[in-house]
Amino acid sequence: MGKSTYLLFILNILFFRNIQAQIYRPSATAEQRANELLATMTLDEKIGQLTLYTTDWGSTGPTIREGYKNDIRSGACGNLFNSHTVGFVRELQKVAVEETRLKIPLLFGFDVIHGYKTIFPIPLGEAASWDMEAIGRSARISAAEAAAAGLNWTFAPMVDISRDPRWGRVMEGAGEDPWLGSRIAEARVRGFQGKKIGDTDAVLACVKHFAGYGAPIGGRDYNTVDMSERYFRDFYMPPYEAAVKAGAATVMTSFNDYDGVPATGNKYLLTDLLRKEWGFRGFIVTDYTSMNEMVNHGVVADDKEAGELSLNAGVDMDMQGAIYQRFLKKSVEEGKVKMADIDEAVRRILRLKFDLGLFEDPYKFCDENREKSVLLSPENRAAARDISRKSIVLLKNDKNLLPLDRNRKIALIGPLADNKGELIGNWNGAGNANDCVSVLEGVRAQAKGEVLFERGCSFFEAKKEWLEAALAVAKQSDVVVAVVGEQAMMSGEAAARADITLPAVQEEILIELVKTGKPVVVVLMNGRPLAIPNIAENAGAILETWWLGTEAGNAIADVLFGGYNPSGKLPMSFPRSVGQVPVFYNEKNTGRPFDPNSKWTSKYIDMPNAPLYPFGYGLSYTTFSYSDPKPDKIVFKKGENLQITVSVTNTGSRPGEEVVQLYVRDLVASVTRPVRELKGFQKIALNPGETKAVKFTLTERDLSFYRRDMTFGAEPGEFEIMTGGNSADVKKAKVLMTE
Ligand code: BGC
Repeated sequence: MGKSTYLLFILNILFFRNIQAQIYRPSATAEQRANELLATMTLDEKIGQLTLYTTDWGSTGPTIREGYKNDIRSGACGNLFNSHTVGFVRELQKVAVEETRLKIPLLFGFDVIHGYKTIFPIPLGEAASWDMEAIGRSARISAAEAAAAGLNWTFAPMVDISRDPRWGRVMEGAGEDPWLGSRIAEARVRGFQGKKIGDTDAVLACVKHFAGYGAPIGGRDYNTVDMSERYFRDFYMPPYEAAVKAGAATVMTSFNDYDGVPATGNKYLLTDLLRKEWGFRGFIVTDYTSMNEMVNHGVVADDKEAGELSLNAGVDMDMQGAIYQRFLKKSVEEGKVKMADIDEAVRRILRLKFDLGLFEDPYKFCDENREKSVLLSPENRAAARDISRKSIVLLKNDKNLLPLDRNRKIALIGPLADNKGELIGNWNGAGNANDCVSVLEGVRAQAKGEVLFERGCSFFEAKKEWLEAALAVAKQSDVVVAVVGEQAMMSGEAAARADITLPAVQEEILIELVKTGKPVVVVLMNGRPLAIPNIAENAGAILETWWLGTEAGNAIADVLFGGYNPSGKLPMSFPRSVGQVPVFYNEKNTGRPFDPNSKWTSKYIDMPNAPLYPFGYGLSYTTFSYSDPKPDKIVFKKGENLQITVSVTNTGSRPGEEVVQLYVRDLVASVTRPVRELKGFQKIALNPGETKAVKFTLTERDLSFYRRDMTFGAEPGEFEIMTGGNSADVKKAKVLMTE
């Protein structure tokens, strides 16, 4: 060894010792450790921590750069996504912690949206369960599976409110209501993050897409979003805020612009609202190349400016855009961004890496044995079956056609009856179609009579001989169960539809089946509310089953045969026609509310205003009756809580569960208010003949809104309190709030 090499060697040892001591100072707080590490970092290394790249495994968009291993090695890339499984993660983590100067471990993110290997119902489906415990458990299990497969960060929950079923991503959210959406957002964040960040069965949550992504004009994905700030705060903001307040560690910006400024460069959204008003302390990541796309939006001339706008707005991490990596150094040199802001962004990311415990053990999520035992375990499948059946909504059940007698002869028909590939829906993690139970398998496992199967048609294609074969088995059977719907890829990202009916050939075959005179049960599978007035009129019974995931066939059979009495309620209105869209329950009264006796009121001349099935709607195999809501006082002071009691009775002959819903309306306010807004719900179980008194507490906050002057608060005056089993069928009481 030459003299100078020897000197370098000694310096290296000293330097690394020093670094190691700082990194591994376990008694210090994450903040202190992050600061000490930060002080030793070069600007390039800092920028590396602000950079997130996809591996070439399962890329979800255009891959801008290749050779991610070199980027890890050079410290240019501090975070990866789309790399999972213990083997792959270990291989990449090894490069980071053995071959880089500072040995900073990588974060591993992935879209674990409704399950990693055990696939749960799509989020819109789970939302229909109105069961926060089950939704939380689904997120918990998804996190445990993901963490067992090497991951420590999920790009979920998506909490974007949407009133537009044309938008394909409604499948990923919780539907149209801010209050239900907020409760679900909290349940999912807590479920993903578990007891504490750093546990080996938990992952960091990422609330997305901030903000307003669910309101693109025309329902077309990525399109412009524009609305008043009042509307934004009243209807779209609450779930983001709830998720942040529930402790979400990270937030993802959205692709859209809002009020003329793309979210990724929107200082008002990212800094003023998210950080200053809500106190968010985690880090903000862009969506996939959304930084670069600001050039197309036309608010910056080039990528470099896009990086400056983003960093100055509050974006910490660049997903896949490679902009920070290419330009941020130059921007610092030119004084366009401040070193202090870069440091702050790096600190936010390092803090979470320390919290995760990755410095102590970068391979803590890389245990092959845990991976084998956790993924797709019998307990996980059982939990999936449980929430799957709770997510099913009974839309129609003429003459109690359902549940089916197990001894009857069944004709199972339709392109989805014997299908597995579609059941895991869109955004299906590492789910495998072969692990799914098809409807045919599920039904055959529970039926005692014969089950005949014919596809009848494909998704989009009809053939005379297919139809004839289907009609022949229908005629030989006692009842037809037709499993029809969309393909999974017809919803999700970049899957907006201008026509939201059932594919025509499927609707045609249903009508032919009805003509046989046999009772027809329609089992729908789809990622969005569909416009199905014809089916609603002609089918004997309809079950909305969304995409239920791994246990779909078992859950559907449980409901078909009555092993489980359906209890789901729609989290989003089902329109009669796309022409009604957007149609949602919490609309405003207008100056000319609909009056059937007057032409000059707000209505369509060719169709009712009301959707086909309203928000909160869903039937059971039993029936429920409701008392009037009883407030504990008719006059109450601002600041006082109000207790509301409603008695609900099971008036049918089977035990069942009911989602009891509470709505309010502020009758006179300084700004127009919705005709009803959900402010509470409880899911209760009742035996036949049993009555339960359901109690709700309304706080001042529940009656608050953004007033004329944009301050948030309640205004004294009259309120209507409504309770019932869906948003369109409620009983009312009036109360008065005084100063
Ligand atoms: C989606 C995000 C997703 C990201 C990474 C984007 O196209 O909009 O929701 O998390 O890709 O896969």
